[in-house]
Amino acid sequence: MTDKYRVVVVGMGKRGMHHALAFQANNRFEVAGVCDIDTARLDTAAAKFGGVKGTDAFQVAITVKPDVFCFCTMPKLRAEMVRIGIESGARLIAFEKPVALNSREGIRIRKLLEASGVKAVVSHQHRYGEHYRKVKEIVASGALGRVHTVLGTASGWMMHMMSHLIDYMRWYNGAAKAEWVMGQAAGCGKFSDLHPSPDYIGGFIQFANGVRGIVECGAGAPDVPEVDYWWRKCRIGAQGTEGFAEVLTGGGWRAVTKTGSSSGEGCMSYDLDMPPYIEDIAAWLDDDRKVHPCNFESAYAGFEIMMALCRSAVDGRQVALPLSDAADEIGMLTAHLTGQQVLLSTAVNASAYPSVSREPELAMSH
Ligand SMILES: NC(=O)c1ccc[n+]([C@@H]2O[C@H](COP(=O)([O-])OP(=O)(O)OC[C@H]3O[C@@H](n4cnc5c(N)ncnc54)[C@H](O)[C@@H]3O)[C@@H](O)[C@H]2O)c1
Repeated sequence: MTDKYRVVVVGMGKRGMHHALAFQANNRFEVAGVCDIDTARLDTAAAKFGGVKGTDAFQVAITVKPDVFCFCTMPKLRAEMVRIGIESGARLIAFEKPVALNSREGIRIRKLLEASGVKAVVSHQHRYGEHYRKVKEIVASGALGRVHTVLGTASGWMMHMMSHLIDYMRWYNGAAKAEWVMGQAAGCGKFSDLHPSPDYIGGFIQFANGVRGIVECGAGAPDVPEVDYWWRKCRIGAQGTEGFAEVLTGGGWRAVTKTGSSSGEGCMSYDLDMPPYIEDIAAWLDDDRKVHPCNFESAYAGFEIMMALCRSAVDGRQVALPLSDAADEIGMLTAHLTGQQVLLSTAVNASAYPSVSREPELAMSH
């Protein structure tokens, strides 16, 4: 027997391997089971980690009876995995963003977790980056004066990136509750993606502390010219009465305050961000008071904002939070935007949104 927390990891793709490697590298954890429906990936992972292996998540989980059930599958697979984690007797479920593809499933997950009392974390691990933490430190120090605005933009599309943006905006805003949102969306090219999203979505968030959130994701979002790597073209920051501070996912941080300007390095790195994320899972398992910074409740609050922005884009009105009913926001948006073409903010986005560039070619061939 071992006194290590035993972990099952399901979905041994990119993020599943990141998680399994980080759990295995931490002496508080042991990877006791791995699962993937892709047998080649499963065999590679099993050769690395040992333990129970299988293609059926429920069978692996029920055999291992882990302390931690971790799943890193694509966004369409969420509530079912949460249910398996709970039934396996796990004390904590660790899973990937986004929380779900619609509020119907998100609400189901929240109810499952609330009824079971099982802890859960959602992987918004960018916040462990030194540049992300530096901006948090500056905001929390009061050097910006009274914060009135938090901002987030990303070139990547919503189901990939907005979950991250809103999580860090909420963090910089002291986890204030959101009262309402108003959003707009355009373009239908990414609804067939595994992260189904409008090509472009933007909107405003009214937080209960009076702070305004402004968030944009996708083809029409502004370029982040300081960063070359396309997926890391994200800008998240806060403005106050006495200055501003911002982090660029792939390009460090900067601030201007009453005492002058400052800046520093930092780039999103799975190698650097995963170890403390995993360490905080051990801390929360050890002590209920040491709630994980990426806890489900916080992730759900961000997810609700994202879903409300989608509803607002369909309904053309402000949407109050918290959401009181369940809906299929991506289905609603797909119906609303079918046939609509997005306009790009920058040529840099053209290759990521090919449905846009294909249209003029077709028109020319006519
Ligand atoms: N937090 C981050 O920084 C970050 C970065 C990239 C991706 N992600 C998220 O991670 C998730 C996974 O992304 P990825 O890039 O690792 O995907 P991936 O395709 O590399 O891996 C997913 C794996 O899940 C397996 N799988 C699918 N259905 C399964 C089932 N029923 N049982 C067992 N295994 C199953 C697939 O075979 C595949 O190996 C997505 O939700 C994505 O948004 C998060």
